[in-house]
Amino acid sequence: MTLEKEPIDRQNFIRARQYCTRARDGFRHLLSQTWPGGAARIVLPAYVGYSPLEGSGILDPLNQLEIPYSFYRVDEQLNIDLSSLENELERGEVFSVLAIHYFGGIQPEIAQAKALCERAGAVLVEDCCHCLDLQGQATGDTGDYALFSIHKVLPCDDGGILQRNRDAIDPGPLPASLRATALPTRLWRDALFDAIAERRVDNYHRLNAELRGIDGVTPFWPELPRGTAPLNFPLLIESVDRFDVYKRMRASGVGVVALYHTLVDAIDPGTFPKSHTISRKILNLPIHQDVKGEEAQSIGAALRSALAEVS
Ligand SMILES: Cc1ncc(COP(=O)(O)O)c(C=O)c1O
Repeated sequence: MTLEKEPIDRQNFIRARQYCTRARDGFRHLLSQTWPGGAARIVLPAYVGYSPLEGSGILDPLNQLEIPYSFYRVDEQLNIDLSSLENELERGEVFSVLAIHYFGGIQPEIAQAKALCERAGAVLVEDCCHCLDLQGQATGDTGDYALFSIHKVLPCDDGGILQRNRDAIDPGPLPASLRATALPTRLWRDALFDAIAERRVDNYHRLNAELRGIDGVTPFWPELPRGTAPLNFPLLIESVDRFDVYKRMRASGVGVVALYHTLVDAIDPGTFPKSHTISRKILNLPIHQDVKGEEAQSIGAALRSALAEVS
């Protein structure tokens, strides 16, 4: 027996992460190394956005590499429709499946999705681009690979992570041009994620209380899913044009976004009506760590006056 006095195994209890320029670049690298070619396709959730300015973080790498794809259905909370995923897997030629934890809400079916993938011989890529990096919560540890987007949750302009889990095929080192710079890497390693999550959850509840009683808007989640550190406060604008509300809130200084106001063309409204309903109504209010609790009131007031102006 040889027992070292200190640990020497660099794979033991240490995540295999590569810090990249953006999540989409890590995704492209992964796909370029793992796609078997031909008709082998990746199956995506039917809620993928596009904007003329930013393109599509998910579809662009696939189009660049000319990798075929198809979609599985998601429900009203953007949760995986397991029977639709199963149908897609049964059609064959699937090498990979993408699951997205939208807005930081943990996919309740992620373990079942992983089991379906295993049965079909497909690898699961877990998209944690809207998530923090919380101890014990383990977003990113179920899939064979995981992606994180540093610039979406911490104050920097770029940065992403490609994580390989367990015995998944090693995609090899990122080309030098796709490696992250020092700032996002340092921010991610030093961030107090528990405190950031606490602030975001507190802001979520405060804003939720402000929105109670406002007609024509519905929080996207009936209740904040357990363990969720929300990226933002998603809500549905039911009664008026979402874009009118968006413009007015922007004009009043509130950094709202609409994830995703436009779905990629390949998501057909006839086949995926639930996805299109969400896309038409969604508005995401800021509740990140720089938002101070008392500012929830101002956000609520801005929404009220935007709604009053457009109705
Ligand atoms: C769910 C999701 N995944 C991946 C990405 C891509 O992230 P990044 O901008 O770091 O490439 C985005 C945003 O574009 C996203 O919303």
